[in-house]
Amino acid sequence: MARLVFLLLIACLAACAHDYHRAAVNSVPTQIPDRIVLNWSGDPATAASVTWRTDTHITKAEGQIAEADASPNFVTWAKREEARTEKWTRNGYAAHFHSVTFEGLKPNTHYAYRVGSGKIWSSWYQFRTASAKPDSFTFIYFGDAQNNLLALWARTIRTAMLDAPDADFIIHAGDLVNKPNRDSEWQEWFKAGDWIHAKIPSIPTPGNHEYDKDAGKRRLSTLWRPHFTLPENGPTGLAETTYYTDYQGARIISLNSNERIEDQTPWLEQVLATNPNPWTFVTFHHPVYSASKGRDNKDLREAWKPLFDKYAVDMVLQGHDHTYARGHNIGNGVTVRDTTKGTVYVVSVSGPKQSDLRKDRWMTRGAENTQLYQVISVSGNTLHYRAMTAVGELYDAFDLVKQQGEPNTLIERGPGSPERRKNKNTLEKRDDDDKVY
Ligand SMILES: [Fe+2]
Repeated sequence: MARLVFLLLIACLAACAHDYHRAAVNSVPTQIPDRIVLNWSGDPATAASVTWRTDTHITKAEGQIAEADASPNFVTWAKREEARTEKWTRNGYAAHFHSVTFEGLKPNTHYAYRVGSGKIWSSWYQFRTASAKPDSFTFIYFGDAQNNLLALWARTIRTAMLDAPDADFIIHAGDLVNKPNRDSEWQEWFKAGDWIHAKIPSIPTPGNHEYDKDAGKRRLSTLWRPHFTLPENGPTGLAETTYYTDYQGARIISLNSNERIEDQTPWLEQVLATNPNPWTFVTFHHPVYSASKGRDNKDLREAWKPLFDKYAVDMVLQGHDHTYARGHNIGNGVTVRDTTKGTVYVVSVSGPKQSDLRKDRWMTRGAENTQLYQVISVSGNTLHYRAMTAVGELYDAFDLVKQQGEPNTLIERGPGSPERRKNKNTLEKRDDDDKVY
């Protein structure tokens, strides 16, 4: 008996420790639309896609869209678009995911949309279509959110939104959640961002934690494709994970670093070779240059880095290592980092899980034990980059200036503050966090 009580006590302590940093969430779907997320699956100047969730009572749903006006009368000229609906089930639990793509929109124009059916509707959400030609823009980039999303990631996305309220889109560089098919974690992710997800288009790329083992094979979360409506212009079988979008003079490319690396290489080359835009950003989860102990992604580096060099990709935005590192290209056969030329590589982390930084020669600036977001603004031939902590402090910054026929010039703008490293208050890494790499 004493042994049983002891075991129960240990089990309770383990459970309490595990849940200590999680916020409570109710993930049961209702007839009211939730998990509303704005994406681009077509041309951001003329189209926008919305995805949302309800319970299975809602079998027919629609989106409505109108050119927004300061008068609330804009609702009277809204157009209707019937939704596509798919059912998601797991362990006897079901939901309907609905999506619409609004097309034929005017460039550089404010629109308002809502989603729902019958008498049950969402809020009207406003967004602006892209300009049809190159123009200034700003975006936010997040490394891994992954754990304790509502408790501890929410503050990062909320601070980022207040810092960059004019952001045109958000890049999520993988590991949005920890357990890919655990519905409550996705509920946390959506609740943490709430209306931000519905208003600012998301460009997500999958991380290893968006993959689950199923019959010995790693498979993309069954919730990834129902949750997002993304371009299907990638290699066959990698729809909505490998894709690109052109936005106001920039090509933004998502690669899937979890599977079929080699299959994506010719597609990547073709997308880079035919890129008419002056700016190029590539995002994927596993970094070309690692920033944590015991990690290296040699296959990926050998496959893709020569193309980043050849086509002068401006920035590569990554996650996975749960540290911060920003630095430069190391050229073929070049052993000394050249801080003024070539692609800028960033590894970052927005959630609470933190690992040890492994200093390496490619890094200009690093951090550990720090939740961060990045704000990147492009105007003409200049890019301004800021890495900000979750409490809104400037941690790293630089400008990139395009030079005709030459590599970009990088101008450091950082605060010169000491490098952030772990201290005695660092949360212990929990052992269920990261079993799959
Ligand atoms: Fe990861």
